[in-house]
This record gives sequence, structure tokens and C-alpha cells, in this order.
Amino acid sequence: MVSTLGWINVVLIVLMASIYPVKLSYLRKIKVQGRQHAEIHGKIYNIIRKTHPILGSLIVLIGLYHGWIAFGRFPLHTGTLVLGTIILMGLVALLGPKIKGLRKSWRSIHRGLGFLLFLLVIIHIYWRNLI
Ligand code: HEM
Ligand code: HEM
Repeated sequence: MVSTLGWINVVLIVLMASIYPVKLSYLRKIKVQGRQHAEIHGKIYNIIRKTHPILGSLIVLIGLYHGWIAFGRFPLHTGTLVLGTIILMGLVALLGPKIKGLRKSWRSIHRGLGFLLFLLVIIHIYWRNLI
């Protein structure tokens, strides 16, 4: 059960990350062929944009349950770092647009944390008890 929930979350995280290549391909299509030829790309991007925060919240809930049945608490552990990074990503995305100093930079911070998340997930899978 613990492993299954963990793997479900890994799949959801990969789905979350797909927003970036989809966005880039949409923007490239607009640039090369014009907005009227990018309608389908735009629809796919919009679906992913709308579901992104919902899936993010689901990952946090599954992560909390997965950690709780694994340990019954949240000690300093690679899993806690993975979950903490996702919660931080959520906070950056929700508060970033509202905070003056973060309005322009929150997307880069969110993406940078995504890269850190990728490394932490690998560590959590292969060297789970490193700390
Ligand atoms: C969203 C965040 C998380 C993801 C994506 C995740 C992912 C995973 C995955 C894929 C596995 C199975 C690895 C395998 O089959 O070899 C796993 C196992 C495990 N995770 Fe997580 N995890 C997360 C959060 C946490 C948290 C918060 C904790 C605890 C504080 C935790 C503790 C564990 C433990 C103890 C195992 C080993 C379970 C066993 O072998 O029976 N994880 N995790
Ligand atoms: C609770 C967690 C999360 C929340 C609430 C959240 C929210 C958001 C929001 C609101 C956007 C802007 C979408 C738009 O263009 O309108 C966004 C973009 C993005 N998110 Fe997340 N996100 C979360 C977790 C994640 C995770 C786990 C990943 C990666 C695995 C991720 C990767 C990205 C990427 C790559 C972008 C595109 C950034 C850009 O436009 O340059 N997010 N996120």
C-alpha cells in the first residue's frame, strides 16, 4: 500500500511537470503558424493549467497519507523533503502573484523547485534512508 501510493504520486508528479513542454510547444506553434493554427494546442494547455492545482493538492493529500502510514509521523526524512518541496511549490504559485516582489519571478522559482523535486524524488526512491 505504501509503495503503491508512492508510485501513484510519482506518476502524478510527471503529469504535473508536463505543463512546461506543453506550454512551450503551444507558444512555438503560435510563433511559427499563428494563433488560429494553435487552437488544439491551446485547448490542451488550458485543460492542463486548470487541472494542475487540483492534481497538486491531490499529491499533497496522498503524500501525507503515504508518509503517515509509513511512519505515523513526519521525521526528517527524504520523503518529508519531497513532500515539503511540493507544498513550497504550491505556496509559491498561490502567493507569488499576490506578492509584489515575486510577481515576475515566481514562475522561475516554481520551475527551479521542480528541478530540486526531481532530484529529491530520485533520492527518495533509490537512497530513501540517506538522512
Ligand atoms: C509526494 C511525496 C512522496 C512521493 C512521491 C513518494 C514516493 C515514494 C515511492 C515511489 C516509494 C516506493 C519506492 C519503492 O517501491 O522502492 C516510497 C516509499 C516510501 N516512502 Fe515515500 N514518497 C513521498 C512522501 C513520503 C513521506 C512524506 C514519507 C514519510 C515521512 C515517505 C516515506 C516512505 C517510506 C518509509 C517508504 C518505504 C515503504 C516501504 O518500503 O514499505 N514518503 N515513496
Ligand atoms: C500544490 C502544488 C502546485 C500548485 C498549486 C501549482 C500551481 C501552479 C500554477 C498556478 C501555475 C501557473 C499555470 C499557468 O500558466 O496559469 C503553475 C505552473 C507550473 N507548474 Fe505548478 N503547481 C504545483 C505543483 C507543481 C509540481 C509538483 C510541478 C512539477 C513537477 C509543477 C510544475 C509546474 C511548471 C513546470 C509550471 C509552468 C511554469 C511556467 O509557466 O513557466 N507544479 N503551477
